[in-house]
Amino acid sequence: MLAHFSPEDGLLFRVEETGKILRRYYAIKKALMKTQCGWFSRLPTFRLKYDCARHLYLDAKGAQHVAQRITELMYGRGPFEEPTALNDFLRMMPRCLDLPEYLATIYLTVKQALVDAYHEHLKRTDPVFDAPTIDVLEWLLRYDEEQIAWAKRELHQMFLRKEDKQRIAGWQGYLAALLADAGGILGEGVHPSTPNAQPATCDPSYAERPPYELPWEMRLDDCPRTSIDSEPGEIPADYHMVYAYYQEIDIADLLCLIVYESPDDLPIQYFVDLTRQAWDEVRHTTMGIRRLQELGFRLDQCGAPVHRWKAWRKMSNIERLGWLTQVGEACSLAGKRDHIRKYLENSDTISAAQIEYDIADESGHVRFGSKWIPELLKRAADPRTKRQVAVDGNRSFRTHMADILTAHGKPIPDGYLNEFQGCEDVADPAASF
Ligand SMILES: [Fe+2]
Ligand SMILES: [Fe+2]
Repeated sequence: MLAHFSPEDGLLFRVEETGKILRRYYAIKKALMKTQCGWFSRLPTFRLKYDCARHLYLDAKGAQHVAQRITELMYGRGPFEEPTALNDFLRMMPRCLDLPEYLATIYLTVKQALVDAYHEHLKRTDPVFDAPTIDVLEWLLRYDEEQIAWAKRELHQMFLRKEDKQRIAGWQGYLAALLADAGGILGEGVHPSTPNAQPATCDPSYAERPPYELPWEMRLDDCPRTSIDSEPGEIPADYHMVYAYYQEIDIADLLCLIVYESPDDLPIQYFVDLTRQAWDEVRHTTMGIRRLQELGFRLDQCGAPVHRWKAWRKMSNIERLGWLTQVGEACSLAGKRDHIRKYLENSDTISAAQIEYDIADESGHVRFGSKWIPELLKRAADPRTKRQVAVDGNRSFRTHMADILTAHGKPIPDGYLNEFQGCEDVADPAASF
């Protein structure tokens, strides 16, 4: 398609106009990623977390693709300013009352408005001048359209009552009106795609909803047995390595917590790295579930930890990253190579291959920590070294966990509160976190 648009038709976007529209996509994608991270710990099942971790990672990647194109259109000069016109809309977006309203907001309201805008944008931009923007739009379209279809299926399966559907539609209308007030997705002067917009005054209680707050409890309703910390239960010691993947089930929640509480002005690569890590962790958990089942173990023989979340909530972001990447993940790597050897000796190629792919991901996670911890320390003018952050993060985590264990009448293991010296301490893969 080589149609020619002309400024006389009012159909041609100049470079500056395209840049303005892309900045709006960027702000919305980033806000979507953060909102989904904030809501992640409220998702009631691992099944939902598995899909949603992928979605929030794709939003971070989408923001990065858009940012790259914005920089190109600035002739390589950056950084660029984010628009403020969408602030009211984006501020209200996370304030959903429950899961159905959240799904309707993220996917059927915001992502649907984005998809409508991409279609409008594709119709209007010159396919020769601006082909690189078209590449970005087609990438965004593919995943946003898939996710909208996914959300429609999820909502359909919930068999919502008529009153709930009406309440959700009212909230969607309120958000659509806020978006229309901000000029729609594309901005003032460009055809706004805001169907079903209702006056923002339709129900004053919408505007009075308080800011979103993270929960203090997390749930895994589809796991047959939950536990305080890693709990291999009846899984034999030889297979603790396979269980170790299942017990990572809450690590994506930790990563989403870190992203949610990170300053917005960190480089987009930081958010891409940490959301990639969140997506990797739900894959690792799924690998663990699949292999445990293939080996004939049942998930009610071992625990899915849900109480570490409370300890993480009390830690600082830098301690969380230090503990996760420089203690938990860094210390898990050596033991994994021994297990590959052991499984191959027993002709268990599947378990060995699982660990090989995991090492590829986990080495990346340790590198993310090594890259971003010094950056965060520098921003905070914090004189500590990365090593000290690992020691402090480990102490903070274990101190909070000791309180949680005590509150549940559980003993604190010997040496649990000792200072972190190095990875030699980790003998059992199920205890690497
Ligand atoms: Fe992992
Ligand atoms: Fe990891």
